Amino acid sequence: MAMGMHTDWSSEIAWGGIRQPVDAAHTLPAACYADQKFFEAEQATVFSSFWTGVAASDQVRDAGNTIVRSVAGQSIIITRDDDGELRAFRNACRHRGTELLEDDCQLSGTIRCPYHRWGYSLTGSLIATPRFDEYPLEGFDRADYGLHPVRVEAFAGVVFVSLEAEVPSVAECMGDLGLRLAGYELDTWRLREERSFEIRANWKLISENFQEYYHLTWVHPDLAKVSRVADHYRYQGPGMYCGQTTTPVSSDERDDWTAMPPAAGLTESDGASGRFVAMFPNVLLSVLPNHVFLMLLEPLAPGRTLERAIWLLPPHEAPVSEHAFAVTRDFWIDVNTEDIDIVQRNQRGLTAGGYTPGRYSPRFEEPVHRFANMLADRFTAQAPGDLRIPDGDPADDLDLFGNGVNPLPYRPA
Ligand code: FES
Ligand SMILES: [Fe+2]
Repeated sequence: MAMGMHTDWSSEIAWGGIRQPVDAAHTLPAACYADQKFFEAEQATVFSSFWTGVAASDQVRDAGNTIVRSVAGQSIIITRDDDGELRAFRNACRHRGTELLEDDCQLSGTIRCPYHRWGYSLTGSLIATPRFDEYPLEGFDRADYGLHPVRVEAFAGVVFVSLEAEVPSVAECMGDLGLRLAGYELDTWRLREERSFEIRANWKLISENFQEYYHLTWVHPDLAKVSRVADHYRYQGPGMYCGQTTTPVSSDERDDWTAMPPAAGLTESDGASGRFVAMFPNVLLSVLPNHVFLMLLEPLAPGRTLERAIWLLPPHEAPVSEHAFAVTRDFWIDVNTEDIDIVQRNQRGLTAGGYTPGRYSPRFEEPVHRFANMLADRFTAQAPGDLRIPDGDPADDLDLFGNGVNPLPYRPA
């Protein structure tokens, strides 16, 4: 099957294997992970036409907190204005197009172009045009030259940006996920640490690996002690996300996940569980009772991805000691290192030539199948706002695909 070079990815025919039910479907072809043309089409369709997670909410908590991120290869400024509103703009001066900001920074009220010092307020209005009054331009109105705005929203402790005007709000796209996570109040959680990893694998391999616990026993022997295979259940309602839960989260001899105090006021189910949610396309969110481990994926090339790893802690009156935090952070770094090794190896196999699509284990890999179908939906959409939000499970206390019955399922309030 020579997929790749001449495949029309906007046609349903290209996605025939993944469009079968999970127990009959085939995995995605190698081209989806390795082909430059596919990568470019994916940047132009998926990442330009949907929401992309770019930061933790806490990174733009206060007025003037500013970050610069690349979305679908385009540079975007994200900031908090003086009235507390999130704002996002194209990172190009309206005079002659100079890049306004090179990097994350703290602004005091003005975005100033380094070239001729045009200045913009944090709401994007053009407020300074040095020396333009020396020879007034006929019909020149600063109001016509504000920064080009970009849609930005916070959801579940994450800031999302969309270059597409037609796509519904993040909350709407994510279906019931906002309700599921409401009890954690993740928008109040604080950033504790951030690290970046450059991974030699396609971004989808990192997400797919996150979505399935099939590999847990063999790739993560230590993680399997606190997040036992037998304690994994479905956590998947309607929405553009794939989820699973570990209930209960166990403790081990090193207290990897229990060294820090839990968030206040959690439900019995939230307080006992680890929630593992892959929001389409690029947000990987692990929510434990006492911390969040967030990964944001930025595709750099078919076989290269920047992973921003962020640890959030619930707001506590007393600070959490470095020692208590380090136990959890180092545990995640070990797990992440194991995942990076295996996804890089996955990438090498997919680029080596000769791979033909395989099959999914429904119990462990139904989320991977769901995710691939969301991808297919974006490629085959007739218009940017043409969004199919997948259904979820009828309830969380069902034995679907042989996963068993969760003893403490999430229940809608
Ligand atoms: S290009 Fe920005 S002020 Fe001239
Ligand atoms: Fe893993």
